[in-house]
Amino acid sequence: MCGIVAAAARREVSEILLEGLRRLEYRGYDSAGMALIDNERNLQLHKQQGKVSELEKAQQLRPVLGCTGIAHTRWATHGEPSAVNAHPHISDQRVALVHNGIIENHQLLRAELLAQGYQFSSATDTEVVVHLLHRELAAGRSLLEAMQSTVGRLEGAYALAAIDTAHPEQVVAARRGSPLVVGVGIGENFLASDQLALRQVTDRFIFLEEGDVVLLSPSELQVFDSAGAPVERTRTSISEAVEVVELGAYDHYMLKEIHEQPRALAATFAQAAGREQLDECFGPGATEVFDRVQGVQIVACGTSFHAGMVARYWLEELAGIPCEVEVASEFRYRKRVGHEGTLLVTISQSGETADTLAALRNAGEGEFIGSLVVSNVANSSLVRESELVFLTQAGMEIGVASTKAFTTQLVGLLMLTMALGRRHAMSPEKQLEITRALQALPDYVRQTLALDGAIERLSDAFIPRHHALFLGRGIHYPIAMEGALKLKEISYIHAEAYPAGELKHGPLALVDNDMPVVAVAPGDELLEKVKSNLEEVRSRGAELFVFADQQAGFVSEPRVKVLSMPHCPEVIKPIVYTVALQLLSYHVALQKGTDVDKPRNLAKSVTVE
Ligand code: M6R
Repeated sequence: MCGIVAAAARREVSEILLEGLRRLEYRGYDSAGMALIDNERNLQLHKQQGKVSELEKAQQLRPVLGCTGIAHTRWATHGEPSAVNAHPHISDQRVALVHNGIIENHQLLRAELLAQGYQFSSATDTEVVVHLLHRELAAGRSLLEAMQSTVGRLEGAYALAAIDTAHPEQVVAARRGSPLVVGVGIGENFLASDQLALRQVTDRFIFLEEGDVVLLSPSELQVFDSAGAPVERTRTSISEAVEVVELGAYDHYMLKEIHEQPRALAATFAQAAGREQLDECFGPGATEVFDRVQGVQIVACGTSFHAGMVARYWLEELAGIPCEVEVASEFRYRKRVGHEGTLLVTISQSGETADTLAALRNAGEGEFIGSLVVSNVANSSLVRESELVFLTQAGMEIGVASTKAFTTQLVGLLMLTMALGRRHAMSPEKQLEITRALQALPDYVRQTLALDGAIERLSDAFIPRHHALFLGRGIHYPIAMEGALKLKEISYIHAEAYPAGELKHGPLALVDNDMPVVAVAPGDELLEKVKSNLEEVRSRGAELFVFADQQAGFVSEPRVKVLSMPHCPEVIKPIVYTVALQLLSYHVALQKGTDVDKPRNLAKSVTVE
């Protein structure tokens, strides 16, 4: 999704801005741009549709140089992806501004500005902000005052950064609802929507808080809260080595990340090693909160929501703890009735998903006994704002389609089930059994990865299709949902998941010889029921692809292809089967020639609602 990089230095910063944008590329975008103030105090601008490499080419042909600048990658919300709609937006050749988020009252503001003679060149919601800022500056306000009064007019979510030729050394910025971090340098200061963009220049960061406005120059760094009062925000040193993410021998990040799962799963569970209490993996204070838990409310989006759905089975079946799961975009706007002793659990790979963050923020006073986030990104907004934190150890995930982040979330949630379960219905024997299963998990995943060739052969049948049905029962229904999401996300084949028992209540009408049906049928106590459901499908001429335990008694026959999965403990089957479905989607997408790592229209981190 959109990315911001900005710099106020005494050296030339165009290459720093470009490198920052390159580091944000994995998040997904459709155009890019940058603006700098040159040493004659003029604004210099490049905007391009497409990749950051297009911006680099433009920069090579006509270098724009300066010590103060802002840059942006845009993921279109208002107005098509185009160079005109790309940021920065300019007012009067004086002010340039970049924006992440959505300005909800932009139509009203546009009408007001048009009436005052401002002209608009783009279809974006953002352009109103640069003209508002210009209006304040033209009225004689300082850059800081102009931004403070501008944000007072805005409704919606934003991270903003702006420069003004009349204040050539300064960058002003503000945030509400979208993340922004200051990179503190020596004799220079930077700003970005993600600290990753700035690790090239500093390891000292200030994570801005809601409503903050910040003024940067090479020698000053002033933060003001939403009331306009100067504040000191905590400086954080992120000194661990910058994670170098390279493709190595793989063709795509998604494939690399699928293959990294044995290591990532082991590292995630290894956090429990040597600890007296599993509680400690969830941060200080976990024991106190966990002792009071009577129920769990999980809130998440997309793949993370599927992790939550799996966790509900674990929490209720293994721990005897009532659990509700809801997508964040619904949860946040719903009138809710709280249940005493409920723990709010958010799940988010990025820790920045706007709806999930809003759900955490609008949890009512006293509605929950505490909040826990399961995330892959330390220092993300959800991590900073939750009381308890479980950090998955997936390592950075570049592919937009979540793979290792999902399976490591499941490990974290199974660990949560154990931590809570020992206080409820889970016996020590059961805990030991789950521990052993988690220890063995990386090996079962390796065995599944070894099935790659067989899965690739299955994928051929999906290439000419426009639709696919995924079926699962019980805990494997969310796994079927995740399999369907992966397929539609990266291969653009329409895929739906159903609990297999729901087939004859509607979806069976879709089934014919043009509809491949994928069944997640691991061979648990619902096996016989799944077999009956599959017969219903087969007798309508559909081609069946059954992912089944090698001991479940399925055999391939005409129009039924069986992938024999390793025989592994029940509790970890959702994780192991996910890996096979990830490979299936990958091979289908590969053959269809889609952009596997950056599927169209999608972003890695969804920071707008
Ligand atoms: O960062 P989050 O886990 O909060 O992201 C939530 C969804 O946007 C994300 O899981 C999305 O569905 C994935 N691209 C799916 O592969």
